[in-house]
Amino acid sequence: MIGVSWGLIVGVVVGVVIGILLAVAAFFCVRLRKKRGRIGFIGSSSSRRCSTVPIRANGVDSSTVLSDSTTGPGFHRINEDDGLSLWIGQNRKRVASVTGIPKYSYKDLQEATCNFTNLIGQGAFGPVYKAQMESGEIVAVKVLATDSKQGEKEFKAEVLLLGRLHHRNLVNLVGYCAEKGQHMLVYVYMPNGSLASHLYNDSRNALSWDLRVEIATDVARGLEYLHDGAIPPVIHRDVKSSNILLDRAMRARVADFGLSREEMISRNASVRGTYGYLDPDYVSSRSFTKKSDVYSFGVLLFELIAGRTPQQGLLEYVELASINAEEGMSWDEIVDSKLDGVYDAEEVNQVSTLAYKCINRSSSERPSMRDVVQALSSVIEARGQ
Ligand SMILES: *[C@@H]1O[C@H](CO)[C@@H](O)[C@H](O)[C@H]1NC(C)=O
Ligand SMILES: *[C@@H]1O[C@H](CO)[C@@H](O)[C@H](O)[C@H]1NC(C)=O
Ligand SMILES: *[C@@H]1O[C@H](CO)[C@@H](O)[C@H](O)[C@H]1NC(C)=O
Ligand SMILES: *[C@@H]1O[C@H](CO)[C@@H](O)[C@H](O)[C@H]1NC(C)=O
Ligand SMILES: *[C@@H]1O[C@H](CO)[C@@H](O)[C@H](O)[C@H]1NC(C)=O
Repeated sequence: MIGVSWGLIVGVVVGVVIGILLAVAAFFCVRLRKKRGRIGFIGSSSSRRCSTVPIRANGVDSSTVLSDSTTGPGFHRINEDDGLSLWIGQNRKRVASVTGIPKYSYKDLQEATCNFTNLIGQGAFGPVYKAQMESGEIVAVKVLATDSKQGEKEFKAEVLLLGRLHHRNLVNLVGYCAEKGQHMLVYVYMPNGSLASHLYNDSRNALSWDLRVEIATDVARGLEYLHDGAIPPVIHRDVKSSNILLDRAMRARVADFGLSREEMISRNASVRGTYGYLDPDYVSSRSFTKKSDVYSFGVLLFELIAGRTPQQGLLEYVELASINAEEGMSWDEIVDSKLDGVYDAEEVNQVSTLAYKCINRSSSERPSMRDVVQALSSVIEARGQ
């Protein structure tokens, strides 16, 4: 009897203990999985620290930076009130935000630009510096004018918008910095500089006619994307040869798009854009439309044809030539002398006629960027035949 009840008691006790242990184990398993789920794939393995951009698809609280035991002196957390959750990894000197646009610290950009001494350009919004990041990557850092009246929120909104614009004919945004009251934008570096520097620098080899038409087509594609591909559509407002940059392979990309013009307004109270490229319709109506960009693009096309800046009387020159062109003569007389007569006269006529449509005083008579892309593409396609 005693043996039996002992056996029973031991059995019950062991059963209960095992049951409790199982329940506790199950409880912790569920807890752990919930936690794992919440922190996405940012595990505790330090080797993964900065390997990928931590984007959590369904985070409950997307503005919380999740850190764990790997958070050491090399990591700081930055809390943003607008949903840009950031991680800083010392080894990559960069922060990946939820939006996918890396955020850099002021200090890193200061180092990368040799304390802001590697000046490569001066845009409407402030100086542009060449920077070598610790990874070896070369980028261009645009420091927005400090007298900017733009607040943090507006700047972040702009960065979000810019970060969504991606096209092979745009100089894409690859990062930003908002620290110490400074706003900076980090862009892909374009080794061959601006189109203006190729057209107007006598110590550089002249661009061939064929290349000029290809550059024009690249620019038109970039603008077409801004006008018709981007949501919401973006009007560039400052299309000009110094805003067109060339990559290693001499493919053209449009720069300086999508920025609000606050800085420019505050510096020059009345007219925005660049003199010589400004749509006359805009000057009278003060409203910028896609067709104002088409006008500026037409001026750019004539620059490519004639190798002369708007400030050098380009349009007066074009008007004179247009009279002859109407009388059945061709546009040959305006062609850049640096081409030494090496060009296809038929192509020059087609491109000039297109450019002339783009600068029609009446904006409704101008083609859309989509029409322009088609016209230029057909010029290039006809070459192979
Ligand atoms: C960077 O330049 C500023 C002035 O332009 C100077 O005050 C500062 O000490 C420099 N910093 C470094 C780290 O060289
Ligand atoms: C012109 O081009 C040469 C060589 O490509 C370059 O060294 C020089 O700085 C350029 N000049 C200007 C004004 O851009
Ligand atoms: C463009 O850049 C590449 C690489 O930097 C260079 O080799 C090439 O000569 C440049 N082309 C022109 C036309 O300057
Ligand atoms: C401001 O606009 C005036 C004409 O309205 C022009 O003469 C001047 O150069 C402009 N200044 C800047 C900094 O663009
Ligand atoms: C504008 O386009 C219309 C229609 O193509 C044309 O009749 C007119 O002459 C053009 N005006 C100018 C100033 O080019």
